[in-house]
Amino acid sequence: MATTTALRASDVPRAYLDHASSSPLRPACVEAMLPFLRDHHADPGRLHAEGRVTRVAIEQAREQVANLFGARPREVVFTASGTEAVNSAVWGALARAGREHQHVVTTAVEHSAVIESCTRLPTTEVTVVGVDRTGRFDADAVLAAVRPDTALVTVQLANHEVGTLQPAAAIATGARERGVVVHVDACAAAGHVDVDLGALGADLCSVTAHKLGGPKGTAALLVRRGLRFPPFVVGGAQERARRGGIEDVPAIVGFGAAAAELVDGGLEREAEAARALTDRLTAGTLERVPGVERFGDHTACLPHLVCLGVGGVEAEPILLALDQQGVAVHSGSSCSSEALEPSPVLAAMGVDADHSLRASVGWCSSDADVDGFLAVFPGIVERLRRLRTT
Ligand SMILES: Cc1ncc(COP(=O)(O)O)c(C=O)c1O
Repeated sequence: MATTTALRASDVPRAYLDHASSSPLRPACVEAMLPFLRDHHADPGRLHAEGRVTRVAIEQAREQVANLFGARPREVVFTASGTEAVNSAVWGALARAGREHQHVVTTAVEHSAVIESCTRLPTTEVTVVGVDRTGRFDADAVLAAVRPDTALVTVQLANHEVGTLQPAAAIATGARERGVVVHVDACAAAGHVDVDLGALGADLCSVTAHKLGGPKGTAALLVRRGLRFPPFVVGGAQERARRGGIEDVPAIVGFGAAAAELVDGGLEREAEAARALTDRLTAGTLERVPGVERFGDHTACLPHLVCLGVGGVEAEPILLALDQQGVAVHSGSSCSSEALEPSPVLAAMGVDADHSLRASVGWCSSDADVDGFLAVFPGIVERLRRLRTT
């Protein structure tokens, strides 16, 4: 199924190339969720028959999610977003250490959910490890930053802006040998490359549903069996007292359905198709538009996204012109209400943050989406470059 859709009947067909921000919901998720939006409403914590229906549905979804991420069902704690999973991991690791002064090791290319939760408490000292020009941090450099008072090492599995895969497993092994809790943020990677809690060797791992074709409003923190872990959201005994608050049953059921589509070869099939599309988009762009460079590692990378630097013209006018011509992409920069902010990830890599855009595909992308991009991108860049010189 192509993502090429019309927003209104009069609009040009759209090419949606921003799956790394959020993917459309898979039809299997919609089907699985509908009965829980329409018919089964009960609090899954109640003992009546209605409550048992929603409880059973959550437990089935938990098994499906656990199955995709190489975890035991009891290791899956559902949260409302990847951001919440990350906040819970960081806060929980610091709270369980229970020290007055905390030391955390992280990296310069983490998502703001990681950076902001690490720097939130004035009593936390944060060591931030830098990256090379591909956006990769070095496992030895991260481990060298671990000290006797380190309460947490938190690193990503893959970078969300440039797609570079990171040595998270080597870091998890090394840090755990020193008795330090390790959190891996796999929100950008989940559903696109193998994420296996056991193989990763991490204590905690965050994954999110909406970037792999599941619904928004649900995600999970995988918590290794045996890890004592205080809840971040308190006030209820849900999720075995590890996350208070009533469960979003339809969303959790949808997450389970999305996960079920990705096991038994589903992820590999989709990743291969995604790689073919991003390769074609990259090759077509480099061939037709001079002065373009691809950021990040070109081989050890997520299959579904590419970050392109465009010389001589800023990202914002390109994004707006692409949007007007029916193509949705994201910039390497982040959106504030006023303007595009320079990307800390690209700045840490030492590349030009004003001139990049990220194109990403997903489970329903097709050649038509790439064609839509290639049909208009060269003309837009040429026009904007001409405007700059006149
Ligand atoms: C690496 C990474 N971590 C965490 C998040 C936050 O996930 P969510 O959008 O589910 O809150 C994102 C989302 O962009 C991400 O890319």
